Amino acid sequence: MNRLFLLIICVLCSAAASAQDIPLPEPVRTGGMPLMDALSNRRTIRAYSDKAIEPQTLANLLWAAYGFNREDKRVVPSSQDRQEIDLYVVVKEGVYLYDAKANKLLLRVKGDHRKDTGSQDFVAGAPLNLLFVANLDKASNHDAACTDCGFISQNVYLFCASEKMASVVRGGINKVNIHKILQLTDKQEVLLAQTVGFPQ
Ligand SMILES: Cc1cc2nc3c(=O)[nH]c(=O)nc-3n(C[C@H](O)[C@H](O)[C@H](O)COP(=O)(O)O)c2cc1C
Repeated sequence: MNRLFLLIICVLCSAAASAQDIPLPEPVRTGGMPLMDALSNRRTIRAYSDKAIEPQTLANLLWAAYGFNREDKRVVPSSQDRQEIDLYVVVKEGVYLYDAKANKLLLRVKGDHRKDTGSQDFVAGAPLNLLFVANLDKASNHDAACTDCGFISQNVYLFCASEKMASVVRGGINKVNIHKILQLTDKQEVLLAQTVGFPQ
């Protein structure tokens, strides 16, 4: 009887946890600006309007950043194909881990932690901050993780250029504080942040 009760509690708990995850719309993988035009428009922008990012745009952005474009391979290269970067999505509602295979956001921390991703004045008000976290157990080495991270960030920049959105990649972050908030292990390292939104 006790075991059955425990089992029911476990099932209910796991259902409650997953109910807070956010399924994303299927990303649209076509269209956008011609590549040479997007490259011409790519730039850092540090003034953001308060316009929200629609779910479809978020799904497209995350796929462009770090989605799969083949069975087990992504839109970005990865040293020795270790795919050691985790992409965290920091929005008003909480901090989520992007699950590219399931096309979902997995809730990691509830509440608005945008301001904790950086001290520059635009950070707290922009609709989205991304965090690039390396899993050093998986990475071929630290330099490779940093390089792999750069490819993802550049894809975000190019997507923003194509969609007339705004972005800034940020190395000036409090890594220790973010590490604590995300409850990361000592084998995980926050490498960079990137703010995304619409220009003011
Ligand atoms: C690794 C890295 C770290 C950066 N860190 C910051 C940062 O903390 N804050 C910021 O406002 N810009 C940051 N930037 C953006 C650069 O300042 C920006 O790319 C540079 O001024 C060139 O401007 P552009 O991107 O418009 O070509 C960073 C860029 C890189 C590549």
